[in-house]
Amino acid sequence: MGHTPEAGFAHEFCLNGLADRSEVYGPDRSAILNAEAFETARATITGWPGYAPTPLVSLPGIAKQAGIAALAYKNEASRFGLGSFKALGGAYAVWRVLHRSAAQAGISPSEGKAFAAHAAELTVTCATDGNHGRSVAWGARTFGCNCVIFIHETVSEGRKQAIENFSARVVRCKGNYDDSVREAQRQADANDWTVVSDTSYPGYTDIPRDVMQGYELMAFEALDQWPHEALPTHVFLQTGVGGMAAAVVAHFWRRFGADRPVFVLADPLNSACWLETIRNGAPTVVDGDIETVMAGLACGEISELAWSILEKGADAVVGLPDESAVEGMKLLADGRYGDRPQVAGESAVAGLMALLAVSGKDAERAALGLTENARVLVFGTEGATDPLLYEQLVGLAPDEVGS
Ligand SMILES: Cc1ncc(COP(=O)(O)O)c(C=O)c1O
Repeated sequence: MGHTPEAGFAHEFCLNGLADRSEVYGPDRSAILNAEAFETARATITGWPGYAPTPLVSLPGIAKQAGIAALAYKNEASRFGLGSFKALGGAYAVWRVLHRSAAQAGISPSEGKAFAAHAAELTVTCATDGNHGRSVAWGARTFGCNCVIFIHETVSEGRKQAIENFSARVVRCKGNYDDSVREAQRQADANDWTVVSDTSYPGYTDIPRDVMQGYELMAFEALDQWPHEALPTHVFLQTGVGGMAAAVVAHFWRRFGADRPVFVLADPLNSACWLETIRNGAPTVVDGDIETVMAGLACGEISELAWSILEKGADAVVGLPDESAVEGMKLLADGRYGDRPQVAGESAVAGLMALLAVSGKDAERAALGLTENARVLVFGTEGATDPLLYEQLVGLAPDEVGS
């Protein structure tokens, strides 16, 4: 058993009764994410200026503490200068929207001026708790489209400003994230804008599928950089609407079939739509106050596309309290077990903290086959996307970490 003092918080653990390792990836899931569409996404995104794979960092000190053989942390803080993995998804979906709509209008990207004029007539919009909106705004500015972003009451001023820095108009609305989703849709309908959402719902799947297709690049890179001969045995993935987790699971499932790792979801207890969904074996909405310090994970409704993949592909879920996020940020910042310090934002560490939570419980370790030989991969999905908040929570400014 690997007891880490940082995992002293109470967590919840639930195995997915619908998980099926022998299930083939199959045509239904291929209609959502497939190798060919991924290759298009990869060729496109890796061709954008400023593309560089983010680092995969080994954390042997924390691994030892957790009683496992190896731990690697894919640190997305440097992604395209935007601070999170979300740069891969929203911006790629904007690119796809523009290219689809230009093709429908009979305009080819090679017709420079006509293509630019077409882009300038397009307005993309979305609701966000920060990172997705930043990606959509950045994509819109890069490709010459207009952009309006909706944020809810408690999205920080720092995050609002970061989106405005990409020339988007930002509208703050009442209520929580799910209310801002509805408002974005209402205004898009009224103004003939295109909603570029990272979550899917009945009748709206093409664009969130493109978003997820972009996210897959993160999993591809992690495998490419993986330092061990054998694959990871376990991957811990934080969930908001589930698009990121589903993209990673799909990528491994397609490539490795039944030999894929064990996948564990990590969900904030304050907005536990994935915990409740897995517990009930069916999509379950969590109503009311879903505020959590893990702002990027504060969603009450899962994405139906993500469910199509995670229903059988996720093996378990861990529910985490807010305090675990702050513990995780500090743990990575000070490198207290001899690891290289990492700057991780509030939504970046849930996967890591879910690992630490279960690694201290014999029954949960046994249920997941998490032995002392386990090789675990986690995704640090954001850096200090709100530097002031980071400093408040960690007690160090992001640029003081590691210095
Ligand atoms: C930093 C970070 N990590 C993880 C997620 C979760 O992604 P998803 O909503 O696709 O589950 C988000 C979503 O905004 C995020 O911003």
